Amino acid sequence: MPILKSLKEYKNEGAVPFHMPGHKRGNIYKKTEINSLFEDILALDTTEVPGIDNLHCPENAVLEAQGMAAEAFGADHSFFLVNGTTSGIYSMIMASASPGDKIIIPRNCHRSVYCAVILGRLIPVYINPEIDYEFGIAMGIKPETIENVLKEHGDAKAVVVTNPTFYGVCSDLERIAEIVHERGMILLVDEAHGSHFCFNERLPISALEVGADMTSQSIHKTLPSMTQSSILHVKSERIDIEKLKVFLQLVQTTSPSHILLASLDAARFIMQKFGRELLDETIDWSNWARSEINNIEGCRCLGPDRIGRNGTVDFDPTRLTVNFGALGLSGVEAEDILRKDFKIQVEMSDLYNIVAITTIGDYRSDYESFVNSLKRLAGTVRRGKIKSMPAPAFFAPQEPSLMPWEALYYEKEQVDIEQSIGRICGEMIIPYPPGIPVLMPGEPISREICEYLKLCVAQGIKINGASDPKLKKVWVIKNRRGS
Ligand SMILES: Cc1ncc(COP(=O)(O)O)c(C=O)c1O
Repeated sequence: MPILKSLKEYKNEGAVPFHMPGHKRGNIYKKTEINSLFEDILALDTTEVPGIDNLHCPENAVLEAQGMAAEAFGADHSFFLVNGTTSGIYSMIMASASPGDKIIIPRNCHRSVYCAVILGRLIPVYINPEIDYEFGIAMGIKPETIENVLKEHGDAKAVVVTNPTFYGVCSDLERIAEIVHERGMILLVDEAHGSHFCFNERLPISALEVGADMTSQSIHKTLPSMTQSSILHVKSERIDIEKLKVFLQLVQTTSPSHILLASLDAARFIMQKFGRELLDETIDWSNWARSEINNIEGCRCLGPDRIGRNGTVDFDPTRLTVNFGALGLSGVEAEDILRKDFKIQVEMSDLYNIVAITTIGDYRSDYESFVNSLKRLAGTVRRGKIKSMPAPAFFAPQEPSLMPWEALYYEKEQVDIEQSIGRICGEMIIPYPPGIPVLMPGEPISREICEYLKLCVAQGIKINGASDPKLKKVWVIKNRRGS
């Protein structure tokens, strides 16, 4: 672990730190006698003094650690990130397409992809995922969907795919890579939830193994590094590495936390040394939990039975998505009960489901207490009927009135939703489930969209991103009407 080693060496040397950061190796907490629990961490927190490498022009420990990560993850080049996969997505997209270029993106992609489109001033061409109506979630992207969009937009520079999804669903990346590369385009994968894939053959195939050109992974999500730490991997001749480095500098701080970098280094070390075996346990216990949950009356756990449908070719067994529809319980209510009554906190919930993430850090007893809590919850909860989701509608316009980055700079006003018909939307409106934006800034608001949104709100669907979550009001572009 070269980065951790360099930090320890500098700490042990005991040089008087007349440099940043201002806590001076945590001394301020000793001086003020504030019990912070920070001391051990802060003792390692330093800036780039001699012996501590520089993320933006690495020559020693960071260079070595990135090289070791590239080898471990199967990349040609790996770049450590201190601003999450978000910064990896910004950089990989902007390094692949110039302002005014088209880029193919899934309509349900993470907001960082939309932000990259704004920052890079690109023209987004949307593709739609398939939908599972029982769980109310977006599933895979079919290769045919990509083939079809490329017939019309053969001039696009790159295609972005989210693989796996938040729910652990994997698309046919292998076929998608062939389609994209046959046309000389670049395949970029948002693999925020898939950094563990390459460490155990029982997991779905990783983006780099099927030929993606770049992939951004949140090591902090499914592997044991600290929050914010991610890696951008490149395995391709199609990428201009020097250009990519410029964008990485553009989107990241000049004062990166070496503790975050060291945690990436340590996560890589753990995975190389223990990963395969620990993941075997994680997969076995997750599968055990899934089958126990499926035996609880009223609960259903998303699983590999979904493979072969809805653009889904594989499934991450370590993702436990539990649906309580038959109990008349929403995911949001279940999350709340699990926390208050059983001291269990899941990653997220929506109208229908809770999503639990399992990793190599979990103990057998954690799985057991999760399953036992769900059994007790299902045994006590009243049975009712949960409202059904309006059939998800895809409203992405062929030609938005304004590009998202243009909409950003226009003056806006908030109007009643009824009055927004015929106007241009000034904000993101994403009903959850299924997490597919109905409106993005710059898109015209039709009566059909307005009625759909009102129906979503009436059914208790959360509207993410909207300034008024009840959607009585919506921001529109001032002095302009949609076309
Ligand atoms: C699918 C997806 N992509 C990208 C991101 C951004 O990752 P990060 O939080 O590491 O910036 C997330 C975060 O939740 C995500 O779920």
